[in-house]
Amino acid sequence: MLVFETVPALKAQISSWRQAGRSIALVPTMGFFHQGHATLMRKAAGLADKVVVSIFVNPTQFGPQEDLGAYPRDPERDRAIARANRVDAVFMPGAELMYPPGFDTWVESPSLSRRLCGLVRPAHFRGVCTVVLKLFNLVQPDVAVFGEKDWQQLAVIRRMAGDLDVNVRIEGAPLVREADGLALSSRNSYLTPEERAQAPELYMGLKKACRLYREGERETAALGKAVRDYWAVNFPLGKVDYLHILDGPSLEEVRIADSRSRAVTAVYLGKARLIDNVLLSEND
Ligand code: PAF
Repeated sequence: MLVFETVPALKAQISSWRQAGRSIALVPTMGFFHQGHATLMRKAAGLADKVVVSIFVNPTQFGPQEDLGAYPRDPERDRAIARANRVDAVFMPGAELMYPPGFDTWVESPSLSRRLCGLVRPAHFRGVCTVVLKLFNLVQPDVAVFGEKDWQQLAVIRRMAGDLDVNVRIEGAPLVREADGLALSSRNSYLTPEERAQAPELYMGLKKACRLYREGERETAALGKAVRDYWAVNFPLGKVDYLHILDGPSLEEVRIADSRSRAVTAVYLGKARLIDNVLLSEND
């Protein structure tokens, strides 16, 4: 597996793959890999001849009071996991390489970005879109794979790529859960044992909405209330930032749920802000 820390070396490798007629998949990440990342890498390997994984804790997507300094990092372990998942190259730029002095251009897709997570993280998706577009320009992939755990991020990136005619196919990969239902996230490492013990209730609450949907309930207000009622009893450590039942692809709020509807949520649990989502019609 190749490891690149500079742009010229990365670009030279990309053009040599291109000249040999190889297709390229990119998996943008912030590292500290878990099985969810491994799933993205394996999906990418099925979509293109060569897989490039970027590892960059992107400072511009963190707010001033957020966890940039504390964000977990383990580059050596990350490289071993990438190698084990048949990644061809890892790109690990430094912050000064991605944001040299004088950097002053931003990419934003405001109508999808200023809602849900964007309400408490106002500059977050601007940072995400900017760094993702830079990575697309550097790696020039045919396809890029993102986790569906961050449902809003996936929608924002699809919109950005579509609006700006970026020649990259955007693919989502389903989120991966622990055996007890907690969605895998690098930020789960912030949880204390007590918080970790309660964390699966986040998903159990969402599943409540799926069960009611299956039983015929379609009013999103009733579905949302059932989830909040469940959490009030079973998830007292969780502080709900938002819970919405939305049309999945457009993120539009709906009054009557249908087969495209998703419950999307963000909840504070101790130092962690956990996000999760489920397709109402698909879960048991
Ligand atoms: O999902 C993430 O890890 C990040 O937001 C991303 C897409 C790598 C951009 O920094």
